[in-house]
Amino acid sequence: MKTTIYIGTSLDGFIARTNGDLDWLMNPENHSNEVFEGYNDFIGKIDAIVIGRGTYEKVLTFPAWPYEKKVFLLSTSLKQLPKNLEGKAAIISMKPKKLLDYLSNGGFTNIYVDGGKVIQEFLKEDCIDEMIITKVPVLIGNGIPLFGILNNDLLFEHIETKVYSNGLVRSHYKRKRK
Ligand SMILES: NC(=O)c1ccc[n+]([C@@H]2O[C@H](COP(=O)([O-])OP(=O)(O)OC[C@H]3O[C@@H](n4cnc5c(N)ncnc54)[C@H](OP(=O)(O)O)[C@@H]3O)[C@@H](O)[C@H]2O)c1
Repeated sequence: MKTTIYIGTSLDGFIARTNGDLDWLMNPENHSNEVFEGYNDFIGKIDAIVIGRGTYEKVLTFPAWPYEKKVFLLSTSLKQLPKNLEGKAAIISMKPKKLLDYLSNGGFTNIYVDGGKVIQEFLKEDCIDEMIITKVPVLIGNGIPLFGILNNDLLFEHIETKVYSNGLVRSHYKRKRK
């Protein structure tokens, strides 16, 4: 079982504005074929996606459901999905380690974990194996942070960093465990 976060952040480490806005990230200047290619390579290899309710609610504002792989939507408050998402997503409420056991028993091996609170919860339980973080060269001053409080240091090995012609910088890290 492998878990990866693949996320865009501002230079000051935010994944969205306080109100959830992604205008600074979705800005057309940040779109380029080479940036999309990296995402498509990654998404082609994973077999399930775990997102939090906050991310799900943002995704519902997009013109279309963006995921082709099965989505496990973490929520304690949502009870039902819209009809068009039946079979594409499932609501679930479990702590990271238990969830990963559940997904592993279901035959999933390569999981994409997304959403601010969800990523922080997974990191707190040391349940993230790889991080691919794309920095957008903008300071937004305030917002939803990517990282939060941990119980102990987590060491990562740097795998590679790609600098894109539009100024985005994507770094890939792998968890170093003893
Ligand atoms: N920059 C990027 O690349 C990027 C990527 C992803 C998301 N985002 C942005 O980040 C924002 C969302 O992040 P967020 O931190 O607000 O929310 P989030 O992590 O997506 O969702 C948090 C919610 O997930 C549920 N949850 C978390 N852990 C759970 C567990 N173990 N069991 C059951 N439910 C659990 C809870 O929902 P309940 O209250 O229902 O229990 C919690 O309030 C959005 O604006 C989104 O657009 C940005």
